[in-house]
Amino acid sequence: MLSQDKVYRCAFEASINPIVLFDGHTGRILDVNPAAIEFYGYEKQEALGLNLTQLCKEETLDPSTGDWAVPLLTSHINRAGAALPVDVSIGSFALSDQQMGVMIIRDMREQLRLETEREELKDQLRHIQKMEALGRLAGGVAHDFRNELTIITLSCELVKKQLQDAAVPTESVSQIRRAAERAASLTERLLSFAHKDTAHTVRFDLRNIVEEIASLVERTIGRKIKLTINIAPGPFQVEGDPGQMTQVLLNLVLNARDALLASGEIAISLVHADGLDAAAASPEQSDRPAGARGARLEVRDNGVGMSDDIKARVCEPFFTTKAPGKGTGLGLSMAYAAVTQAGGEFRIESSPGNGTSVQIYLPTAG
Ligand SMILES: Nc1ncnc2c1ncn2[C@@H]1O[C@H](COP(=O)(O)OP(=O)(O)O)[C@@H](O)[C@H]1O
Ligand SMILES: [Mg+2]
Repeated sequence: MLSQDKVYRCAFEASINPIVLFDGHTGRILDVNPAAIEFYGYEKQEALGLNLTQLCKEETLDPSTGDWAVPLLTSHINRAGAALPVDVSIGSFALSDQQMGVMIIRDMREQLRLETEREELKDQLRHIQKMEALGRLAGGVAHDFRNELTIITLSCELVKKQLQDAAVPTESVSQIRRAAERAASLTERLLSFAHKDTAHTVRFDLRNIVEEIASLVERTIGRKIKLTINIAPGPFQVEGDPGQMTQVLLNLVLNARDALLASGEIAISLVHADGLDAAAASPEQSDRPAGARGARLEVRDNGVGMSDDIKARVCEPFFTTKAPGKGTGLGLSMAYAAVTQAGGEFRIESSPGNGTSVQIYLPTAG
């Protein structure tokens, strides 16, 4: 027959939850089970010399009643001084005139980790759903809009013919038609952003686009803005939609210009690299770094920069901090979508007052 003492001793020793027995009035620790020894990291003998308050942060003793107040979720300090999240219950009992306390601890680390992970996933899901909804909205509007523009373009043709027959000048009609065509090409871009249309994928040299934009910007940008362009030698053959890539780069440069106050600097660089984090060849180097299979394009400015809150949102469609009519909030979201769809990487580094660097990595073909 097992003695009852032995049964309880075994239960105490075998408990997966740490258990601490203590003097209910002073908090002096009287016994700890192996799970407690492992959890707090003390040797048994060390633990027996401790007071409960050396493990607990928030549990408090009411000396007049011997009652312990226990918060629902708290943290305990282990031997190394680390705070461990726990769920605690304390019971008290009297044993031959001595007031005793028993504290049972539940280690909450894994549970908290899972909860944090779940929250993060929920955030990501909300973001994806929002992007999807916006994309669908943009796509739907663009589609209907494109149809209306087709009617305008065709009607222009008709009117033009009728005017020509009547020997009336047709220049204004041509202008309307050109405007409608430009508007149609804008809707094309919206559609390709909303995945309703496939981009026109061809192989092209990114160098040509950077050079084209650079010369355009050089001619149009104010004299107070210094423009630096660094392009490494050799071709940068990438696959994608050159029109879309031109828009991407143009938007980055215009964003940089908007971020500058009266004066400032914009630097555009295109180098061979293996990714945004891999080492890049400097523009002076004529060879690619060993094995580099991609192009890294950077547009940097020393303008106002962005706060973390703004930076977190700039790739959302329609997010803009610019005055109505000045910004569409589609530039960076399209850039992000175009680059990631092409298997590239996209990164923004920015902080208020320290300017902004937008970096794009695109894999090169062949
Ligand atoms: N180079 C930059 N410096 C500071 N802020 C920037 C920069 N580029 C983008 N932003 C911020 O990101 C927002 C979104 O940019 P974008 O998608 O191009 O839309 P838009 O230019 O129409 O506002 C801008 O309104 C601005 O707040
Ligand atoms: Mg923009």
